[in-house]
Amino acid sequence: MKPKSKILIIAGSDSSGGAGLQADIKTVTSLGSYALTAITAVTIQNTTGVKSVIPISPVDLKNQIIYSAKDIRPDAIKIGMLHSKNVIKKVLESLKILNIKKVILDPVMIAKGGAKLIDEDAIRILKKELIKKVYLITPNIPEAEVLTGIKINNKEDMILAAYELLNCGAKNVLIKGGHLKSKKVIDIFLNKTDFKIFVSPRHKTRNTHGTGCTLSSAITTFFSCGKNIKKACDLGIKYVNSAILTNPNYGKGNGPINHLNSMKLNKIFK
Ligand SMILES: Nc1ncnc2c1ncn2[C@@H]1O[C@H](COP(=O)(O)OP(=O)(O)OP(=O)(O)O)[C@@H](O)[C@H]1O
Ligand SMILES: [Mg+2]
Repeated sequence: MKPKSKILIIAGSDSSGGAGLQADIKTVTSLGSYALTAITAVTIQNTTGVKSVIPISPVDLKNQIIYSAKDIRPDAIKIGMLHSKNVIKKVLESLKILNIKKVILDPVMIAKGGAKLIDEDAIRILKKELIKKVYLITPNIPEAEVLTGIKINNKEDMILAAYELLNCGAKNVLIKGGHLKSKKVIDIFLNKTDFKIFVSPRHKTRNTHGTGCTLSSAITTFFSCGKNIKKACDLGIKYVNSAILTNPNYGKGNGPINHLNSMKLNKIFK
């Protein structure tokens, strides 16, 4: 097959390969599209935790985005970890230059192991400016709490926080419920005219490293190929759910999920 669309990924590298840029590329590829990348930071990590974060200079980040995207124009952009105010400023400048409508923001703040990946100034500008410039924002529960100031303990709190994010200028919101202590997993989609609660089976496993990155990349891929944003969320959630279910159980900590769950190898490569 030929790639169905082109996605620019702006995110941090995860040396363990399960989250961040690596998860994004695997997702976009496994779902049949072409991935371009701009690296915000290099993280040294494995499934047991993040050892350190080495930032790429904001100017070099912008150069990666513009130089690649001016040559191969992306149909959509997925944004992941942006660790500082200056990085976000450069991303805002780049978005303005590129003028691409389909932009999905995963506002990564805390790694699964608990490491903080973003500073206070960055959170402020993300909330004040970046949220308004993207088409969909996909916070998990701790991120939605930081962005809205609402403590989230149940589905009703998630809905309240989603409305608050619309008030802050978000166009479409998907609050991910992986962190909620609930029997089924719940993800809440909301925009000014539409609302949907996605309910999926919760798999009992510690191997959920990179679920958030994978979900936002899957949504971006489906959206770039012409699905509407709610349908893209629905399909993205199904892809992640199946990836968790079939996880390969690698590593000694929170292991990766199975990005290949959507793929079948052609006979000639067997
Ligand atoms: N144990 C699980 N079983 C099934 N689905 C899950 C499970 N955990 C998370 N999910 C789903 O995975 C997707 C990502 O949600 P999650 O809340 O884990 O994001 P995240 O915290 O941003 O992930 P990450 O730690 O990778 O940043 C959501 O659709 C959520 O419902
Ligand atoms: Mg996340």
